[in-house]
Parts: sequence; C-alpha cells; structure tokens
Amino acid sequence: MAAVIIGRLLITTLVFAAAILDRGSCEVDEDVIDLTHTYLNDDMLAWPTDLAFNISVGFKGKTPGGIYYAENRFCTSEHAGTHMDAPTHFFEDGKPVHQISLKTMIGPGAVIDVSSKTKDNPDYEVTVEDILDWEADYGRIPDGAVLLLNTGWHRRWPSEVDYLGMVDSNDPFKSKFRWPGLSGDAAQWLVDNRSISVYGVDCVSIDYGASSTFPVHKIFLGPENEIPSLENVANLDAMPPTGTRIYAIPMKIRDGTGAPTRLFAVVNGAQRHLHVFGLMAAVVLIATHCLF
Ligand SMILES: *[C@@H]1O[C@H](CO)[C@@H](O)[C@H](O)[C@H]1NC(C)=O
Ligand SMILES: *[C@@H]1O[C@H](CO)[C@@H](O)[C@H](O)[C@H]1NC(C)=O
Ligand SMILES: [Zn+2]
Repeated sequence: MAAVIIGRLLITTLVFAAAILDRGSCEVDEDVIDLTHTYLNDDMLAWPTDLAFNISVGFKGKTPGGIYYAENRFCTSEHAGTHMDAPTHFFEDGKPVHQISLKTMIGPGAVIDVSSKTKDNPDYEVTVEDILDWEADYGRIPDGAVLLLNTGWHRRWPSEVDYLGMVDSNDPFKSKFRWPGLSGDAAQWLVDNRSISVYGVDCVSIDYGASSTFPVHKIFLGPENEIPSLENVANLDAMPPTGTRIYAIPMKIRDGTGAPTRLFAVVNGAQRHLHVFGLMAAVVLIATHCLF
C-alpha cells in the first residue's frame, strides 16, 4: 500500500516537473524568431556610399567613486544593417520614421521563399506569378501583413562580394551590384491588389542590384502607399511561411529617413502548446492512477 502511494506521488511530481520545464522553454525563445543582424564594427554591411556602423567605448572602468561604469557611443548611417526605410527616404514630403505608427509596424507574417529561383540567378526579379504560386499553397496574403521575401541572400551576410557584388571602393557609383529583388510589376500588383502594411527583404536594397530606376522604392514609399520597407533582414530560413506575428520596431529618430530596426516574429499558438501539454499531463496523471 505504501509503495503504491509513493509510486503515485513520484509520477505526479515528475509530470508536474515536466510541465513546468516545458512552460519555461516555451516562454524563453523557442517561439520568438529574431530577424535582426547584430550591429558591430566589422563584419556588417551598409550601402557602400553610406557611413558604416561605428561603435567605440565612451567610458569603461571605475569611477572616482569606485563604481564600475561602462558606456559606448555609436555613429552610423540610418541605413546600415537591418533597418527600415521611411517614405521620406525617397519623397521629400513623405512620412519620417518617427511618425510611422506602431500599429502599422506589427502584423501577420507572410514569408515568400524564392531562394531556389535566385540560386543560379542573382539578378532574379520576383514576379506576380511567384506571389500567386505562394498564395496557392498558403492562402491570400492577409490584410495588414508584414510581407518578407526570402531570397537566400541573408545566408551570404556579411561577405561584401557575395552580398553586394563587385564594390568599387574608389568610386562606389561604378560598382557592379548584384542581388535579387521584387520586380516593379510585382510591387505595383501588391499595392493594387493586396493590402500589406510593411515590406521587407534580406538584401541591402528593396530594388534588385542592377536597378537604376528604383521602382520598388518609388511604389512602396510613394505618397499613395507609404509602406515602410525593411532591408538586410536576417534569419529568414527560420521562418514559417505563415502563422507568425511580426514586429518591425525602428529607433524613433525624429525626421529619420530610416532607422536601425529590431525585427522579430512571434509564432502563433505558443500559448496553445502549453494548454495541450497541460491536457496531456492530466491524461497521463489519470491513466497512472487507474493503472495503480
Ligand atoms: C569610429 O569612431 C571613432 C570615435 O569617434 C573614431 O575615432 C574612428 O575614426 C571611427 N572609425 C571609422 C572607421 O569611422
Ligand atoms: C491587380 O493589379 C493590376 C495592376 O498592377 C491590375 O491590372 C489588375 O487588374 C489587378 N487585379 C487582379 C485581380 O490581378
Ligand atoms: Zn535603406
């Protein structure tokens, strides 16, 4: 009799311990996907004519009062690393970054993976057909979506030649840029037929590298649409095509033409997993009681 009670107590304790551990792991980072490159001095990229991110120690050490204290300072283009382009980046009267509402910058995630098409063609321009193919598999791009294009280019970060093409450091305007992107037609189709809130891509520009007319910037950032756009998005291979909520949170720089952005996704249903686990724990508990 005593052995049975001890056995029941042991199993009950184990089940609850497992449930608590599972809960802990869910809350930490399993269900949050970071889509941001780390900002640092070397091993990161910006548009070649823009100022790179530069951080240095302001103070580090003991104060006269004997207290340890550290502070860094940084200087950077708004457009280095993972960042948002605000409408005023291309349109003088366009919205600056501090006026874009938080509500605009949070939305259901839609991630279109075109990396198989860009693999052998770094100049690939994504078509309306590619978007419709994705919708045939995953459903219509939801209204208010944060739409991200996975070109596979984030895997090349931070290799300058792989990510940007041939950069002429003496005259950046003579560079031969090569990376893929959305076609102007597809951008126009998106604003005409869908209602996305934010657009983003894992390349240094939302227009493909060979572009000299920048139709995607003009369409998305233009006064009729004002769709804030993200460049140098990281880690897209970790993203499911749907079923996430994406947060694109730039520094609130007054009159900023863009800003470094912490971009991340929360997987839908993280709480539901906990409930399912709780239910399973209850079933196991009842079953073990019956067996004994
Ligand atoms: C970075 O900033 C520091 C401190 O202002 C400066 O001394 C240094 O020259 C800068 N480096 C570059 C590469 O701009
Ligand atoms: C979508 O947008 C294009 C213009 O980009 C337009 O010609 C077309 O009629 C729209 N509707 C559909 C269903 O494609
Ligand atoms: Zn930019």
